[in-house]
Amino acid sequence: MSVVRSVIRGCGSYLPAGVVSNAELAKRVDTSDEWIVERTGIRQRYLAGDGELTSALALKASQSALAAAGVSPSDLDLIVLATTTPDETFPATATAVQASLGMTRGAAFDVQAVCSGFVYGLGVADALLRTGQGTNALVIGAEVFSRLLDWNDRTTCVLFGDGAGAVVLGTQPGQGTTNDRGILATKLHSDGRLHDALYVDGGPGKTGTTGHVRMQGKEVFKHAVVNMAGVIEEVVALAGLTLQDIDWLVPHQANKRILDSTAKKLGIKPEKVVTTVDQHANTSAASIPLALDVAVKDGRIRPGQLVVMEAMGGGFTWGACLVRW
Ligand code: ACO
Repeated sequence: MSVVRSVIRGCGSYLPAGVVSNAELAKRVDTSDEWIVERTGIRQRYLAGDGELTSALALKASQSALAAAGVSPSDLDLIVLATTTPDETFPATATAVQASLGMTRGAAFDVQAVCSGFVYGLGVADALLRTGQGTNALVIGAEVFSRLLDWNDRTTCVLFGDGAGAVVLGTQPGQGTTNDRGILATKLHSDGRLHDALYVDGGPGKTGTTGHVRMQGKEVFKHAVVNMAGVIEEVVALAGLTLQDIDWLVPHQANKRILDSTAKKLGIKPEKVVTTVDQHANTSAASIPLALDVAVKDGRIRPGQLVVMEAMGGGFTWGACLVRW
């Protein structure tokens, strides 16, 4: 049966210039390199400069993804930008990227699913492309998450960083089998009852301020492993495949211990897990496309291979996307 598939034509990423090591952070808050590395695997993070906006990071990642794909902005029909740190409350930051790229047609909007945003964005863009909204879509995950941090709260401020990653999706006909290139299955979830475990204590409606991240770390950890392992199994089964078929797991980079525990629970070998949390820390919606770009550029992810991307974030939201590269 002939079907339409959304194929990843290229990817790109961008990190701001400012690198902050754990040791440098320890000069600002009561923490240590030893504690951060042991509990999280994080060694450094990139932080955006004053006035450096999500749209600026997103634009650079998008230009790099478009160049890798050989697609020009005028060929794009859709921009979906996943972010928790929009430039303004409105309009959508995606429209700022659209204007900067010089794209004057199609549609651009943001999705908000915190750390799961990139997986949500892929799911939405894939569905729109397959139902005739267009031929080419740019899906971006971009954050200046540092703006949401309480720099006096050592239990959260050591965990996060800023950055952006993007992929270009293009439609192509497939046979409707798991041998097709492109997105083979996506599964999304949320559970709004778990708000208090991870949220920001501000917003335009409640306080008129941006607010800061508040988190019950142990609660998040526990749910993260169960939810992410569960949704990986679901998405693989949805496509009619097994975990043994998977070549690469590209997880949301929250914490090395979460990555390791999830892979162990599923019996996935550590060498199949793309890990960048040591270098990038948790960049929320940007973390998956940043990790993806690293593993594509260094030649690990190759055409024809099966890649699972998965994430969990505030909400809680969680999801996974299975792609044949
Ligand atoms: N430096 C030094 N000590 C610290 C720090 C720090 N940065 N933060 C906390 N501590 C102390 C605590 O005060 C506590 O001290 P106490 O025993 O004297 O009370 C001690 O370290 C242990 O604290 P715990 O909270 O029990 O540490 P835990 O092992 O649970 O690790 C962590 C904390 C790293 C936050 C962990 O719970 C975690 O990773 N949770 C998941 C959170 C996450 O990834 N959130 C990201 C958003 S959601 C997502 O992306 C999936």
